[in-house]
Amino acid sequence: MNNEQAKQLRQAFGHFATGVTVVTTMDSDTENGQAKPLAMTANSFSSVSLDPPLILWSIDKNAQSFAAFERNEHFAVHILHAGQEALSTVCATRNADKFADVEWQPGLGEAPIFDEFSARFQCRVEHRYEGGDHQIIVGRVLDYSCQNKPQQVQPLVFFKGKYCAVA
Ligand SMILES: Cc1cc2nc3c(=O)[nH]c(=O)nc-3n(C[C@H](O)[C@H](O)[C@H](O)COP(=O)(O)O)c2cc1C
Repeated sequence: MNNEQAKQLRQAFGHFATGVTVVTTMDSDTENGQAKPLAMTANSFSSVSLDPPLILWSIDKNAQSFAAFERNEHFAVHILHAGQEALSTVCATRNADKFADVEWQPGLGEAPIFDEFSARFQCRVEHRYEGGDHQIIVGRVLDYSCQNKPQQVQPLVFFKGKYCAVA
């Protein structure tokens, strides 16, 4: 597939409106030996199963944080509310300082957990599947939480390559 065909297929996939998540993990295998928190924006999230509690998302094998997500079995998924577009943008930017403007703490397996979210799932990898240029990660939900303050009621939505509001 050439670049133009890839662009057109990406555009077609973009007709599926989604919520937006930020997925985090802690990379302990760094050059200076200091653990490094990692975060990336992902809209491939889906709920899978209630019993056992499973979710999935898929990660681009070319993402800078791919190796860290392969190493660490723990990760956290934050479903964003409409007020978190800036966080989504920074977490979708390679080499950005993703933790500069967000309150967080280490959660299960040291995976960073943000203080603010619409819903948050702390997970351990249950399965990994081949998905072409992506890897499909199925996680078991170990803990979860929801926030329902008035400013967090609206979801952040992504549609045709842009953030948008729900009417
Ligand atoms: C709305 C939105 C959704 C995205 N969804 C995914 C996704 O599901 N999987 C993925 O690998 N990248 C996704 N990306 C791209 C990554 O966020 C982006 O490549 C990011 O730079 C990855 O972080 P890293 O470079 O630190 O690894 C998405 C980007 C945006 C803006």
